[in-house]
Amino acid sequence: MAISGKTRVCGVIGDPIGHTLSPTIQNAAFNHLGLDFLFLAFHVKTADLENAIRGMRALGIHGLNVTMPHKNAVIKYLDETDSAAKFLGSANTILNKNSTLSGFNTDGVGALNALRENGANPSEKKVLLLGAGGAAKAIAFSFAQEAESLCILNRMPEKATVLADALNAVFGKRIVGGALSPSTLQKNLQDADILVNATSVGMHPTVNQSLVEPKWLKPNLTVMDIVYNPVKTQLAKDAKAAGAKVVSGVEMLIYQGAASFKIWTGKSAPIKVMRKAALNKLSSKGEGK
Ligand code: ATR
Repeated sequence: MAISGKTRVCGVIGDPIGHTLSPTIQNAAFNHLGLDFLFLAFHVKTADLENAIRGMRALGIHGLNVTMPHKNAVIKYLDETDSAAKFLGSANTILNKNSTLSGFNTDGVGALNALRENGANPSEKKVLLLGAGGAAKAIAFSFAQEAESLCILNRMPEKATVLADALNAVFGKRIVGGALSPSTLQKNLQDADILVNATSVGMHPTVNQSLVEPKWLKPNLTVMDIVYNPVKTQLAKDAKAAGAKVVSGVEMLIYQGAASFKIWTGKSAPIKVMRKAALNKLSSKGEGK
């Protein structure tokens, strides 16, 4: 794609940022649709966040993804936020429209669409969510609106109960939070239709770890792991061996990116193109195995 005087610049800010897949995924999508857009990665340290956002306005940068460690802190520099970003106190996407900066959080909707588009709609389903960190919260916010029930288990139980209480206050649903232990996990899994691992367990370099004993997994379960490095986590391998449906963390990454793409371009993202670009990049780094 030729760069012109009218090229719209988008990007991702974070620290560290060198391993981000977002430029690969977004540029593949822009090129596929012939859009005069360009996506770059910017290494922004915490002390420079405010200036980076000022720079976004001053330079007319059209859109940004925001990743660790800036998702929470960035909120105070934005003019408006969507309901997810408001509830979560964190944004992963910014749109610059005539110098008004709008913040969105597409992590939850990314997880929701990853399941829906892979034939496992969480609507009316019993969901068991492991973790209560930033990613888990975003997922919980989206799933709370859809699922029949939601159980959140976390190593630090108070984070799960505080999150469940906050969600119940908004949605008035059957959302419970509690301690993550082998026994609570096994017990709650018996009832669940969908299991989501939103902890960092299984992520490179601890690739052989899983919180879930293989014998607890069953064929009528859908398992989504938000870890995408490696693509096939230990949990995903065990779930597949048990006959369960598996949705990989790459799917969440792609659908989260697709939601950002739609916000910036107004167009539906070319999912297949994004998936291929992400998987190519991961396998070229030896991580797609
Ligand atoms: P992210 O933004 O990716 O969600 P995070 O906010 O640091 O990252 O959250 C990491 C999640 O993984 C948390 O739920 C964390 O549990 P605690 O809140 O109890 O720390 C969970 N986690 C990390 N390592 C874990 C482990 N070894 N066992 C169980 N949970 C773990």
